Amino acid sequence: MAIRLKERFGKKFDEEIRFFKGMMQGPKTVGAIAPTSSITAKRMASVIDVKSGLPVLELGPGTGVITKQILARGVAPEKIVSVEYSQDFYRRLVEDYACVNFIHGDAFDLKNSLGSFADKTFDCVISAVPMLSFPMEARIQLLEDLLSRIPEGRPVMQITYGPVSPVIAKPDRYHIQHFDFVVRNIPPAQLWIYRKA
Ligand SMILES: C[S@@+](CC[C@H](N)C(=O)[O-])C[C@H]1O[C@@H](n2cnc3c(N)ncnc32)[C@H](O)[C@@H]1O
Repeated sequence: MAIRLKERFGKKFDEEIRFFKGMMQGPKTVGAIAPTSSITAKRMASVIDVKSGLPVLELGPGTGVITKQILARGVAPEKIVSVEYSQDFYRRLVEDYACVNFIHGDAFDLKNSLGSFADKTFDCVISAVPMLSFPMEARIQLLEDLLSRIPEGRPVMQITYGPVSPVIAKPDRYHIQHFDFVVRNIPPAQLWIYRKA
């Protein structure tokens, strides 16, 4: 029991240190002050339709907290395609999560980053990219690119820390739904869902 607790908290501490280092190197690209809580990650992964058999696209996995919850939902590791911008986070993710398709690349340039996965249809998108660090035009472009990669009606799930949707409304192009406000997250997190109109 004591050993298991030590392992668990040792890993959590290690994740926090890694996150802190990433934040020191690129505060704008990391865009948060602590790793996503497992409660938030679980909420985000809850929208996955495992029965669809389609792969899941994850953006900005960082320390892998959300990846872990996607796997916990029963998605096979080889059915996860996950794009991370930071070389340090990427290196560690590849070590920690065998068989997950991690890509070291830019979520805002998926056409190039996705490589052989570029033509795949995904079940949904689970995104932790720090939207607020990018201009609104780039956020809209990214969202519409993501929506074109999933079936109609399926969600793009986005975490953010501001009080309003990080992407402005375009009711003729996509629908916005506030999914949850998770207090047990540092800082408290807002979850938004976007669907094709
Ligand atoms: C707020 S952190 C969340 C990380 C993760 N949820 C965690 O708790 O460890 C944002 C993540 O998005 C990554 N990121 C930032 N810009 C990106 C981009 N253009 N493409 C892909 N990932 C990006 C950062 O490197 C970081 O890992």
